[in-house]
Amino acid sequence: MASILKNIAIIGGGGNIGKIVLDALVSSEQFNITAIQRKESEATFHPSIKLIKSDLSGESLEEIFKGQDAVISTVGATGFAEQQKFVDAALRAGVKRFIPSELSTSSEDDAVIGLLPLFGVKKNIIDYLKSKESEGLSWTGIATSGLLDWSLTTGFLEYDLQKHTAVIWDSGDKRFTAINEKALGQSVVSVLQRPQETTNKYLYVASVETSQNEILTALEKETRAKWSVTHVKTEEVVSEGQKQLSVGDFTGAFSLVRAMMVGSIPGLRANYIKDTELANDLLGLKLETVEETVKRVLS
Ligand SMILES: NC(=O)c1ccc[n+]([C@@H]2O[C@H](COP(=O)([O-])OP(=O)(O)OC[C@H]3O[C@@H](n4cnc5c(N)ncnc54)[C@H](OP(=O)(O)O)[C@@H]3O)[C@@H](O)[C@H]2O)c1
Repeated sequence: MASILKNIAIIGGGGNIGKIVLDALVSSEQFNITAIQRKESEATFHPSIKLIKSDLSGESLEEIFKGQDAVISTVGATGFAEQQKFVDAALRAGVKRFIPSELSTSSEDDAVIGLLPLFGVKKNIIDYLKSKESEGLSWTGIATSGLLDWSLTTGFLEYDLQKHTAVIWDSGDKRFTAINEKALGQSVVSVLQRPQETTNKYLYVASVETSQNEILTALEKETRAKWSVTHVKTEEVVSEGQKQLSVGDFTGAFSLVRAMMVGSIPGLRANYIKDTELANDLLGLKLETVEETVKRVLS
């Protein structure tokens, strides 16, 4: 395999995570990037990116994938199952590497799938990729856990930067790892730069090891204010989230994804430093402190 995978196609590049990955790919100035977009999509891309509209049929993708070294999928939940078609088209087109839409909590973790069975669809894609290894298409899965800086900015982790309020689960002391945006993007760039070392591997990466209380302390220190805290219990939030999902209210899924990071769930491997073998060294990623992250987010 070539020393670096240079010709890259991405599907879902206009989404939350796709934008982060594309920023990193563009900044590195090492790749020829093609973004594949559904016909109805209106996302716009950096001028250096070649944009191709597609109906995402197998035939259309096979044609677009010809000459590509790697295909990255950052499709959202409604596209998870579609990825089998992407893999088939990549195989037929002679693509060397497929990076599926992981970049989140680990689909290898049964406790994650137990919380949100949708993650089982991601796992099925990894299993499908494994079944195709002998046919010449290699793969790399990247588990990042949740984004910390992005979750603080968007409020996803329930710290309100304007109102100075926080929701803390259980004792707030449970330790978990999280990723920051730049490191998430760099993890993908690093895989493309190291095809040999990352072939057919499921890799775990992290930027920060922390707890909810540590994040709160850092926020209070940086804002020089005492924050108002609401305490919740994992069982109650998870039960409510599952109830919401069962009646088609997708906000329940957000609670369940939060539970994958901060919830006290039996068997959950949320601290990648302790619970897995971290691939940071392999991919050249550094750990940061929660204080550094909070300072950067607030500035
Ligand atoms: N680490 C984290 O904190 C974190 C946070 C959020 C998400 N994630 C993970 O990152 C991945 C992407 O999530 P996201 O939130 O970025 O997704 P998203 O913004 O909801 O969607 C990303 C893109 O997927 C494409 N897409 C949507 N439905 C599709 C379908 N049915 N078929 C084909 N393409 C479809 C769309 O592209 P076009 O409209 O351009 O065609 C869309 O822009 C997921 O695996 C998710 O679990 C991780």
